[in-house]
Amino acid sequence: MSEGREVPLIVLGVGGVGRSFLEQIVRRRSYHEKRYDVRFKIVALADSTGAAVSPAGLTDEEIQQAIEAKAQGGRLSDLPFGYYQNDVRSIVDLEATQDTVVVDMTASTETMSALQLAMERRSYIVLANKLPLTAPISRAWALYEYPRLRYETTVGAALPVITTAKRLAASGESIQRIMGVLSGTLGYLMTAVEDGVAFSKAVLKAKELGYTEPDPREDLSGRDVARKGLILARTLGWRLEMEDVQVQSLYPEEWDTWPLEDVMAELIALDDDFFAWVDAARARHEALRYVAKLEDGRVEVGIQFVPLDSPLGRLRGTDNLVEFYTEYYDPQPLVLAGRGAGVHSTAAGVLSDILELVLYPWLP
Ligand SMILES: NC(=O)c1ccc[n+]([C@@H]2O[C@H](COP(=O)([O-])OP(=O)(O)OC[C@H]3O[C@@H](n4cnc5c(N)ncnc54)[C@H](OP(=O)(O)O)[C@@H]3O)[C@@H](O)[C@H]2O)c1
Repeated sequence: MSEGREVPLIVLGVGGVGRSFLEQIVRRRSYHEKRYDVRFKIVALADSTGAAVSPAGLTDEEIQQAIEAKAQGGRLSDLPFGYYQNDVRSIVDLEATQDTVVVDMTASTETMSALQLAMERRSYIVLANKLPLTAPISRAWALYEYPRLRYETTVGAALPVITTAKRLAASGESIQRIMGVLSGTLGYLMTAVEDGVAFSKAVLKAKELGYTEPDPREDLSGRDVARKGLILARTLGWRLEMEDVQVQSLYPEEWDTWPLEDVMAELIALDDDFFAWVDAARARHEALRYVAKLEDGRVEVGIQFVPLDSPLGRLRGTDNLVEFYTEYYDPQPLVLAGRGAGVHSTAAGVLSDILELVLYPWLP
């Protein structure tokens, strides 16, 4: 066997996804060495207030210590080998070369300038973070044009939505329409109301089950689905801004300024609308879905009626599902379906993005 190839990683974000990612790196070391002759070397870890940097690579014991500290709500800066920092650009400046992979698993807009520096250094970049890709075109477009970048997990987590869109577009085959349920939370809610549960009760239950964000308005506003729709559209080369995406929020705009408890108490006011929508859909043999729809250069996000006997119509529960209608996938669409969130599958998707980049950097 050859000496093997060392791949230096700068890991930004050690939350749920970041920790699972680090765990998988350590646990699968021998697999990656045997199968690909690749050894990952963590040269830097960063959270929102601190970092741990080691040009020779953190040891597996140090990585484990960092995972445990972060899982208990600690800070990297409190580790014996950590230090305080609040500017991840400085870490990229310190460590990034053209062999390095900068992995953004934060949920922050603040990594943008670090990513810009990584592009200047010709480093590889892998994003689970949607925010850099949904920034205004003036800043975000360079990322879409940067060949050494992967961001598969930003839409549908590990489902290969981005890869599929790129492959379909690559042949020149025309893509007529993409329809996707891209929020497990909203999928759960639509199934529940279809089963006759009042919308307000379904939201409370979803919150109890941990399906919603701590503030369910994050889900109900459709903002996160809109970001995914925009990323998919930009992947197809559509130069759209966030404001161009038409988003239907599931609650009235003025609730944005209300305290959360008032919003939760008032949800009941929305129940009748949902009962009426479900009835109207049923009368047309259709199902109610919260969908991102890409067609004719436009992105619309909101409630749609879809045929009951379509893949989206048959979808139940929290899974994501994307239908691609193209020149050759018509009338039956190409369909991707499955878990569209979850820290472990997302982290595995990030790992696959990294391997693909370093093993096959010429792939588009
Ligand atoms: N969870 C999923 O199922 C899923 C699926 C697909 C994509 N994603 C995306 O993956 C990313 C990570 O998700 P997550 O669930 O792991 O989030 P999370 O638990 O909130 O973790 C975010 C991490 O980013 C760190 N961070 C925040 N601002 C930072 C900054 N300016 N510089 C450096 N680090 C910073 C946080 O630091 P502290 O620890 O100091 O707060 C934390 O460690 C998000 O963008 C999310 O949208 C998640």
